[in-house]
Amino acid sequence: MDKGEKVKVDLAERSYEIVIAGDILSGLGERVRSFGFSPVLAVVSNPTVFGLYGERVIGSLKEAGFTCFHILIPDGEEYKDYFWTYHILTELLRKKLDRNSCVVALGGGVIGDITGYAASVYMRGVHFVQVPTTLLSQVDSSVGGKTGVNHALGKNMIGTFYQPRLVWTDITALKTLPKRELLCGIAEIIKYGVIWDEKFFDFMERNREALLDLQEDVLKTVIRRSCEIKAEVVSRDERESGLRAILNYGHTIGHAIETETGYSRFLHGEAVAVGMHLAARLSEAMGIMGSEKVLRIQSLIKAYGLPYELPSGLDIDRLVSHMRMDKKAVASEMKFVLPEEIGTVRIQRGVREADIKRAIAQ
Ligand code: NAD
Ligand code: GLY
Repeated sequence: MDKGEKVKVDLAERSYEIVIAGDILSGLGERVRSFGFSPVLAVVSNPTVFGLYGERVIGSLKEAGFTCFHILIPDGEEYKDYFWTYHILTELLRKKLDRNSCVVALGGGVIGDITGYAASVYMRGVHFVQVPTTLLSQVDSSVGGKTGVNHALGKNMIGTFYQPRLVWTDITALKTLPKRELLCGIAEIIKYGVIWDEKFFDFMERNREALLDLQEDVLKTVIRRSCEIKAEVVSRDERESGLRAILNYGHTIGHAIETETGYSRFLHGEAVAVGMHLAARLSEAMGIMGSEKVLRIQSLIKAYGLPYELPSGLDIDRLVSHMRMDKKAVASEMKFVLPEEIGTVRIQRGVREADIKRAIAQ
């Protein structure tokens, strides 16, 4: 079996390992067995992912001696809610999972978020393992312990910080991922370059074709480096009292676009891509970053085929009012993650509405 790359998320007694390799789903059972969990185990997935990878995962867990059953929720962000959390909890109770049991999340960020949330509240918390199958979940959502579901009044508004025991990342699963979903993961990878590591940004500039072709060594490098950066940030500020907010670069404007377009026109990573470019322009409008760096960020986003401009026809006042509702905003004071250089960002409070409008309406 490919030994792959390993990244440790250092959180004292809540530390865990991220294993990144090709074709490792059949090795999951043996690794999970090493934790000494109770013998009854649940896999949560959706019909799309389970149809592709369920048999391999369940087979591996059974071979390792687990009594294993699966819980499916329909495929889509709209099912990441309380109703389906309740369904998961009901099934865990029915199958009598105990406090030492483990729940495995097999899927993208939707499955990871809802499963982690259910695991965090079931009997006040049982073990959970992330098996992320989208690029976005492999570089972002499976790491760092943010779990949660949506509420009719706001996305991701209900949730917990609850770390998995293991993240088991099979890069081969990306071969079946639709291209648009792949690009959403790439948007988050570009984010890490801008917020933390200019060399990594260079790497993304130089390896575009290889990454889009899913070349294994390049994939492993970008997933490992993304996870290392996220692990570093999370280990310094697990519960987002400060630094962790930098992971939201591009997200304030991105969320506003998603809300204004009713979550139908853009996928999350696409909205974040536009948000990253516009936040760079905002940085320029506020005299923080020079125009040549804004152009470099814009060019990289564009080179990967991601959107970077605000779509026409959106009402700027309404967008700004959504930004005021952002989870980072306190008492309506708008806070933005703004790049200073490629590789360094700041969290800027008190951003003026006039500057935002100037930057995004250009
Ligand atoms: P997703 O989970 O909806 O997956 C996207 C689509 O790809 C789905 O249709 C899914 O069934 C399909 N899919 C998954 N793996 C596949 C594969 N290998 N082959 C073929 N199809 C596959 O979307 P996502 O982008 O992975 O995650 C988005 C979610 O993640 C959002 O709910 C967002 O709020 C959340 N998120 C959470 C965090 C966090 O820190 N917890 C961070 C970022 C995003
Ligand atoms: N995706 C942002 C975070 O995990 O903090």
